[in-house]
Amino acid sequence: MDRYAVIGHPINHSKSPFIHTLFARQTQQHMCYEAIELAKDGFIAGVSELFANGLRGCNVTVPFKQQAYQFAHQLTDRARVAHAVNTLKMTDDGLILGDNTDGAGLLTALDLEFGSLADRCILLLGAGGAARGVIGPLLAANPRSLVIANRTHDKAQALAEQFSTLGGIEAMSLTNLDGRFDLIINATSASLAGQRLSLPARVIHPQVCCYDMMYQVGMTEFNQWAKQLGARQTIDGLGMLVSQAAESFAIWRGIRPGVRQVISEMRRNMN
Ligand code: ATR
Repeated sequence: MDRYAVIGHPINHSKSPFIHTLFARQTQQHMCYEAIELAKDGFIAGVSELFANGLRGCNVTVPFKQQAYQFAHQLTDRARVAHAVNTLKMTDDGLILGDNTDGAGLLTALDLEFGSLADRCILLLGAGGAARGVIGPLLAANPRSLVIANRTHDKAQALAEQFSTLGGIEAMSLTNLDGRFDLIINATSASLAGQRLSLPARVIHPQVCCYDMMYQVGMTEFNQWAKQLGARQTIDGLGMLVSQAAESFAIWRGIRPGVRQVISEMRRNMN
């Protein structure tokens, strides 16, 4: 049976085995998918051994996405732009291909849950790995504007400069944010730690949609804050998680599973 895995540290709470098992059932693929934890300093040795022992492909999560980028023999354009890899695949000629499906996953989820990004004003919060991975795909969706803001302003500015060749992107300081946005995407890790962002309340208005790339049982800290201030819609990162997984699955198996049913099943399981 073809073997796949998600690799990270820690990994015990990962939903990926559940998601890929549902995909395999849905598409009738004969495969198995497990969660594997590697020591923080043991990624390269561990993943090399897994591929040598027949692993066909894997997802890579925190804290190994940059190391996976270094490890891959070949990279897709979107992995190169993101500087991070979340999907590895053993190719027919024995080389390891590195891809990044996070941005595509976000776009699929937004398309399902928010609608088209064309001509929308988007604010992206954060300038770490998660933000970097989605800027390219967001710009490719032709928004009217993309503003990036981060607690450490220099990092947002550096990213805006770096991506300026791909489309209009501007950095603003988090505390002096101004403008009317249609969509605010939280790509910081603040919700993960249950921390509230220091954002001016004026960015929330009755038409805005807030999207937290994180998800949890119950509302994330960021979405709670936005809802209290009257945001029209709040969305968590579950759709993105399932959609990036579907994209990885398609890379490995050549068949794209449907995501709606899996998202609903996961929501049912979380409640
Ligand atoms: P990831 O890979 O999840 O993006 P990361 O690269 O460590 O993780 O980046 C974390 C991001 O969340 C950064 O943009 C960080 O802001 P700084 O660059 O100023 O550190 C942001 N972040 C984390 N906790 C935050 C908080 N409490 N308030 C605001 N921003 C926060």
